[in-house]
Amino acid sequence: KTLTIGLIPGDGIGKEVIPAGKQILQALPSQYGLNFKFLDLRAGFEEFQKSGVALPDETVEILKKSCDGALFGAVSSPTYKVKGYSSPIVALRKKMGLYANVRPVKWVEGVGIPVDMVIVRENTEDLYIKEERIYEKNGQKIAEAIKRISENASRKIGKMAFEIALNRQHVRELGGSSLHKSPSVTVIHKSNVLSVSDGLFRETVKKVYESDPARYGSIEYKEQIVDSMVYKMFREPAQFDVVVAPNLYGDILSDGAAALVGSLGVVSSANVGDDFVIGEPTHGSAPDIQGKGIANPVATIRSTAMMLEFMGYQEPAAKIFSAVDENLKENKVTTPDLGGKSSTQEVVEDIIRRF
Ligand code: NAI
Ligand code: MG
Repeated sequence: KTLTIGLIPGDGIGKEVIPAGKQILQALPSQYGLNFKFLDLRAGFEEFQKSGVALPDETVEILKKSCDGALFGAVSSPTYKVKGYSSPIVALRKKMGLYANVRPVKWVEGVGIPVDMVIVRENTEDLYIKEERIYEKNGQKIAEAIKRISENASRKIGKMAFEIALNRQHVRELGGSSLHKSPSVTVIHKSNVLSVSDGLFRETVKKVYESDPARYGSIEYKEQIVDSMVYKMFREPAQFDVVVAPNLYGDILSDGAAALVGSLGVVSSANVGDDFVIGEPTHGSAPDIQGKGIANPVATIRSTAMMLEFMGYQEPAAKIFSAVDENLKENKVTTPDLGGKSSTQEVVEDIIRRF
């Protein structure tokens, strides 16, 4: 079977790590019966500076018409306002209906702190709808932003979280290594303060759980207020399996969780909708190391495996995950962010050699 994959490197080290994902797919053993065709697609700040558009319509059209899945590198988004520019990944998630951002944080056995969790972040609403306004009152400026939580989006993300919990349990039963014996889902909220908005999120996810005891009954249901979640996640991360959160809390928690496993360079994600998935490393364009050939490709390689997983190809995905784990565990061929001396390309080759 031939799968067509859109490649959107973006800016900075995105251009160095996306080729790693491509090489990994090309090197997959023939036993999986998969061939790949790649389409190079444009997006990013450099693209904006060249053409005036950060996310060309053509990129979205090709993804929709011709691609089975895609990989996105990173984009450089200035922290100051640039007229006409807004982040292409945010727009892309919206245009492709990718309502979930799924971020696993997994320790490699024997290295670092035990943690094996996945954060399932709602990706379309909350404060990130960017409905902000500023006005003056009594001689001072006042800024406001709207936090939108809908029943629909909360239901969809809740359902995805419980389905992921079941799938993780399935993979464990197939012999995957894990800290957890049984599945759990923890719902993140702050409804002690925001009882209306976060309250709706929490209630809706809970209803999804209660609506199907035959399917979800084996999952333990938990709730956690976001601030104490930060505390518990750093004190004792091993207790969490699947964590589901509204957009903003999920964004912050998942970057924080990345600190538990050593480097942003190893943390993967997938942007998932009902019929499309884009794998994306969680890190940014890393201007401080760009062009040096030392960007850690592991985050992108794991994101490539996640893309396959959500496309329904569990076995080649598992092969990639375990080759990465072996590389990390051996801790010999690694990039400088993990204390090693190897280049991006050397790490890619070391992982491929383990297939
Ligand atoms: P960053 O993730 O680019 O870098 C943070 C630190 O981690 C840097 O020291 C960098 O060298 C290191 N790092 C990141 N990825 C690495 C890798 N694969 N291998 C080795 N080291 C790695 O975050 P920063 O510096 O805050 O942002 C830089 C630019 O990236 C900004 O323009 C920002 O807007 C953009 N960004 C884009 C994201 C995206 O496209 N989704 C996400 C985060 C930031
Ligand atoms: Mg973030």
